[in-house]
Amino acid sequence: MEQIRYSVRRFAEVLGLSPHELAEAEERGAVKSSIAPAQKTLYSLQDLAAARHALGRTPPRRPMRKQLFLNFKGGTGKTSVSSSYAFRLAEMGHRVLMIDLDSQGHASKCLGITGEEAERTLFDAIIKKTPLEHVIVRTSMPGLDLVPSNLSMSTIDLSLMPLAAREFRLRNVLKEVESNYDYAVLDAPPSFGLLNLNALMAAHDLIVPVLADFLSFHGLKLLFETVQSLEEDLEHVLDQIFIVINAYNATYKIAKEAREALEKHYSEFLLKQVIRQCTKFAQASSEGIPIFAFDPESKGAQDIQAVLDEIRERIGEPVRLKAVESGR
Ligand SMILES: Nc1ncnc2c1ncn2[C@@H]1O[C@H](COP(=O)(O)OP(=O)(O)OP(=O)(O)O)[C@@H](O)[C@H]1O
Ligand SMILES: [Mg+2]
Repeated sequence: MEQIRYSVRRFAEVLGLSPHELAEAEERGAVKSSIAPAQKTLYSLQDLAAARHALGRTPPRRPMRKQLFLNFKGGTGKTSVSSSYAFRLAEMGHRVLMIDLDSQGHASKCLGITGEEAERTLFDAIIKKTPLEHVIVRTSMPGLDLVPSNLSMSTIDLSLMPLAAREFRLRNVLKEVESNYDYAVLDAPPSFGLLNLNALMAAHDLIVPVLADFLSFHGLKLLFETVQSLEEDLEHVLDQIFIVINAYNATYKIAKEAREALEKHYSEFLLKQVIRQCTKFAQASSEGIPIFAFDPESKGAQDIQAVLDEIRERIGEPVRLKAVESGR
């Protein structure tokens, strides 16, 4: 991820400046490229953070909002969507903690960190009581930190089993860092166990990526039953639940029918915005580059931005930092 470079046009766009305003800021010395000072044609992730700081274009801090991407069904896009979502929030200037809950370590990989090389994982924080600060690693994107995962996480459900307050471990651990972040984005494995129960107990929002096929309905039913039992047995009520259709292809009749069925049965939770099927999105996640860096013009990037806007509007956040991004 440290190889990510912004063109002048994209750099200005991300900062909410016109190219002319960017050129002016460069002249004043508020913005610099550390890549090719002679040419000034490319900017790094560090340049973005430095420019944001120098220009005071940082969004207001907010109490940490914990957003869990979960579906018990596998392969629905939890990891690709959540890691791009987290990257984009950080690119917009928010302080973000991505938490990889899956022993496959794919979210870590999507943010350029090899989970296998990580010294510690959430296992250490939750089971061995290592301070979470000692588990967190920085990614190449300033403002985006990660709790990495690897195979050592695979036995976490068993280790949680005999512990006291075993459903509340993650929620309690996250309290240690809540003043450091505006968002915690959690990427869950496709399983039904104590770790995911912990994640549900910790989250404000549950975001459920689904595919537009009828197999998804069974998974959704199970998920909603679980959420309901949490409300009844553990008195935990989620603030919001969002279902987002992923990898949507409107040319397939079955996809359109499944979308209509979701609109009928889950209208209260279903986001209006869908994420279209996008080859570049699949390619980006396989190369471990967030789609916003891989191709910000792609369908995948546009749709995730729109999903992010819709969710932020629903949780009562200003959708865009108008005062900041209009250059005032
Ligand atoms: N909108 C999309 N368009 C095209 N391909 C996609 C899209 N979203 C996800 N994919 C691809 O689908 C596959 C599964 O995605 P991903 O790994 O994000 O799902 P997951 O729900 O995290 O899977 P798991 O349940 O194994 O954790 C990946 O190969 C990914 O690149
Ligand atoms: Mg995954």
